[in-house]
Amino acid sequence: MNSNVVTLSINGKEVSGRDDETILELALENGIQIPRLCYLEGLSIVGACRLCMVEVLGAKGLIAACATRITEGMVVQTDSERLAEYRRSILEMLFAEGFHVCSVCVANGHCELQTQAAHAGIDHIDLPYLYPRRKVDASHRLFGLDANRCILCTRCVRVCSEIEGARTWSVSGRGIEAHIISDFATPWGESTTCTSCGKCVQVCPTGALFMKGASTAELEKRTDFLSWITAMREQR
Ligand code: FES
Repeated sequence: MNSNVVTLSINGKEVSGRDDETILELALENGIQIPRLCYLEGLSIVGACRLCMVEVLGAKGLIAACATRITEGMVVQTDSERLAEYRRSILEMLFAEGFHVCSVCVANGHCELQTQAAHAGIDHIDLPYLYPRRKVDASHRLFGLDANRCILCTRCVRVCSEIEGARTWSVSGRGIEAHIISDFATPWGESTTCTSCGKCVQVCPTGALFMKGASTAELEKRTDFLSWITAMREQR
């Protein structure tokens, strides 16, 4: 498909990109970081976490940078006190809704939620914690799922479906009851579709999906395989 070059402004800087690019993609190309959790290069875009919201001149509300294509003359602001406040609220809600005890988490120090919170200057949560009692699925011989640490970014669902082609993971339930399930709520270890590739574990931004045997703060994840696979597929 042909694309056109458009020029716009991000944080007062004039930048150009293809009109099939999103605000987030163009911002990253220009070295402008926008907080994000559900977005991962190489996977489809779902706009689930709402952390990447930006201000666009003339728009009624905030706009998801990961899900909005650039247009000619757009005026985008990725950083403001209003956005900082909004992002802090999102992060606080994620912490309050789940059960995130960083000090005993395998992903401590390598967790994207923790990193985003640190960047946002969050050192405590004002919202009441819900302390959910979600399941831990340790039935798989290599991996585990602690749903208490899941932020429902659905990266695992997408990588399993779009990259591995196994379609093991999906989301069940709605609202506060929403949770990740394998093979229509079969224990992960009994899944007939899971190939044990571990891609879901690698793309999970928190310690929700983990490798067995990893101790506190030991779990470092790698997502670079995504760009490699994407490049190989494009070459073909
Ligand atoms: Fe855009 Fe999650 S990164 S909504």
